[in-house]
Amino acid sequence: MKPNKAHFKTREVHAGVTPDPVTGAILTPIYQSTTYVQESVDQYLEKGYSYSRSGNPTVAALEERVNSLEGGSGALCFATGMAATSCTMMALLNAGEHAVLSDVVYGGTHRLSTRVLSRFGVEYSFVDTSDPKNVRDAIKDNTRLIFTETPANPTLKLTDIAGVSEIAKKAGIPHVVDNTFLTPFYQRPLELGADISLHSTTKYMDGHNVTVGGAIIAADPAHVEAISFVRNCLGSNMSPMVAFYTLQGCKTMSTRLEAQSARALKIAQFLETHPMVERVAYPGLESFPQYELAKSQASGFGAMLWFEVKGGVKSGKKLMDTLELWSLAENLGSVESLVTHSVTMTHADMDPAERKKVGITDGLVRLSCGLEDADDLIADLDQALGQL
Ligand SMILES: Cc1ncc(COP(=O)(O)O)c(C=O)c1O
Repeated sequence: MKPNKAHFKTREVHAGVTPDPVTGAILTPIYQSTTYVQESVDQYLEKGYSYSRSGNPTVAALEERVNSLEGGSGALCFATGMAATSCTMMALLNAGEHAVLSDVVYGGTHRLSTRVLSRFGVEYSFVDTSDPKNVRDAIKDNTRLIFTETPANPTLKLTDIAGVSEIAKKAGIPHVVDNTFLTPFYQRPLELGADISLHSTTKYMDGHNVTVGGAIIAADPAHVEAISFVRNCLGSNMSPMVAFYTLQGCKTMSTRLEAQSARALKIAQFLETHPMVERVAYPGLESFPQYELAKSQASGFGAMLWFEVKGGVKSGKKLMDTLELWSLAENLGSVESLVTHSVTMTHADMDPAERKKVGITDGLVRLSCGLEDADDLIADLDQALGQL
């Protein structure tokens, strides 16, 4: 069976990779080479590669893999998730043009827009994309990009991908979805009408806290070509070593995500009943405000959740410092369970008033559930909550 026609879990292991024609090695080698010798001037690029900034066989194998998983017409991998976002925005926007973004996005995406690309004449509106009507109302004559993140980091607010994509299509504006939190295993934006799905591969695709990387998968080959051009100009490509690690890590992505999501639900249910917990947000809880949308546009709820403890910020900080098994760290999606204080860490550069307005409160404790035993993870939370 051709891997690209197979089920998701088969493609996750095999797509993009065939045994090495020279040695039979089952894994695509790390093509650690800057340049590629050409047969003759007239046969330039006959084998597909000239210089590793423009393309590399190990990276190409990962691109084929992620393209197969998202169902695109082409994919590109980058040095980081932020490189994927920067190159995409720079390919799709010119000076004097405008982009509509989710009001809750990863802090780095917010910083890139407001503090870097704004200096080059790009204008941004941050709107509550949980209601597609707000996106329609924010579109102006010069709007050339709609960029949503769902579930959003860190509040987990959801955007109706199909609803926003329909508005984007009618207006002729590309819709890019940051799909990092759910991965193509649980959510496939292109099938819901989006134009580009974007990832920080640093998270679930790697899954082991080993690499930083990024990817985009596009429905339209013209978008792949335009973004590839910018990637080559900026030199934001992924290294072959990172592609090799990511090719191995993503073989178990769906299996890890299923197991980590099961732990997240159990942990969310425990927190919901704890007397020291003020509120809990997890898309798989019926109490989650967008529970129905979570069920309808994704096949799983993911392994991210957040909560606030009674006693405000002081108690929240004490809890994070008292946890023993959960590591206080940035990043998410790894097999190690992590706790993050978004206000101090991932969203520190955002204006405090703006942060508060969109629900990133000072007491928000973000959890990325890993693969440790759920009972141990719960016991650690219980002991830390008990000390408040
Ligand atoms: C949703 C989301 N998108 C993009 C990024 C940026 O990815 P990277 O850190 O790989 O540059 C992050 C990083 O945390 C993220 O959480």
